[in-house]
Amino acid sequence: MSRCRSPFRRWASFTKARTPSFLSRGRAHKPGLTSVSDYSSRVSTDTSAVDFKTTPAAERASAATRDRLLANPGFGQLFSEHMVRMSWDRERGWHDAELRPYGPLQLDPGVSVLHYAQAVFEGLKAYRQQDGGIAVFRPDAHAARFRRSARRLALPELPDALFIESIERLLSIDGEWVPSAPEHSLYLRPFMYASEVSLSVHPSTEVTFLLIASPSGSYFPSGVKPVTVWLSEDFSRAAPGGTGEAKTGGNYAGGLLAQAQAAEQGCDQVVWLDSKEHRWVEEMGGMNLCFVYGAGRNVRLLTPALTGTLLPGVTRDALLKLTADLGFKAEEGRISTDEWRAGCEDGSLTEVFACGTAAVITPVGAVKSAHGSWAVGDGKPGQISMRLRQSLVDIQRGSAPDPHGWMHRVARIV
Ligand code: COI
Repeated sequence: MSRCRSPFRRWASFTKARTPSFLSRGRAHKPGLTSVSDYSSRVSTDTSAVDFKTTPAAERASAATRDRLLANPGFGQLFSEHMVRMSWDRERGWHDAELRPYGPLQLDPGVSVLHYAQAVFEGLKAYRQQDGGIAVFRPDAHAARFRRSARRLALPELPDALFIESIERLLSIDGEWVPSAPEHSLYLRPFMYASEVSLSVHPSTEVTFLLIASPSGSYFPSGVKPVTVWLSEDFSRAAPGGTGEAKTGGNYAGGLLAQAQAAEQGCDQVVWLDSKEHRWVEEMGGMNLCFVYGAGRNVRLLTPALTGTLLPGVTRDALLKLTADLGFKAEEGRISTDEWRAGCEDGSLTEVFACGTAAVITPVGAVKSAHGSWAVGDGKPGQISMRLRQSLVDIQRGSAPDPHGWMHRVARIV
């Protein structure tokens, strides 16, 4: 395990016996046009040839150390003891899969991802179940999105079976790092990057896949406390034809300045609007948004439709289905900032929340913009938002039936 730096110092073993960087040359690449069909032919569905090598960590944390670290894991600060690593190149496809001790990477400064950001990632969670077992929430949906993101970034698609096998292998050795406290889980972070050493701009001919795991508590330190949001009219997260629907780091990097602007305005989060009219609501920070109209039996949930500029959230999709399961209307559509304000002012729009894997559901309590500010409902977490949150969390923890077959059980660790 490591909290930024591993106390075990076993990383030293990774840094030995490396090829000196001056000897590691990028493979010759002839720059030129690569057609879209070339990119999609980079999908290999043959997983039979990929053998996993396992190298367990020489030193493991004691149960007492693990319990102490898991008591207050924070978010994304603590890492489990192993990781999965796999390579891809044009000739061999996916190869050299291994489960190995968690540790730093040695990167040549000329590696393409450091310059041109050709990389994608996913975020999903493994939950400790009521019966002590472990289950992962919708790994198939995350595997599919990972492939779609890879395709958009001209990276090779990792077959779903390999994505899921990587998770199963990591959990089979690091399953003890899945916390059992109610709001805690093991956040799984698969990612893939251009590892060819080259400064020429082209789809990388060498790619590395990694899967790491981070025992995590609430994403927002304040838990499910409502957030105040800033409507960003100066910056755009995504434009039609861009990379908005791919889970790629550049979308997040490009949002940091707007997030800083939101903080300057005294807000917790930025809300993204469409890039053309700065009028239609798209997302909040790295999360999707949902709007709840009405009350009682007449509740209707609206979430911005997937126009190509929004991230197709797996939690968003689950909540659309759970809303319908609860007997309410669930719709994808569009909402403008004026409609948001008017709905809050006339009381028809009763609740707003953001949703995503990391924070599940976060209520939005107030809105600020260059044109004015308003409250959402009474500014407190709404009933429907909290009911949906509880329904989802109950399924994830195995304390409620799983009618949609979302939970993927992995081998029980005792
Ligand atoms: C999520 O909530 O789904 C996310 O991806 C958030 C992550 C970028 C920390």
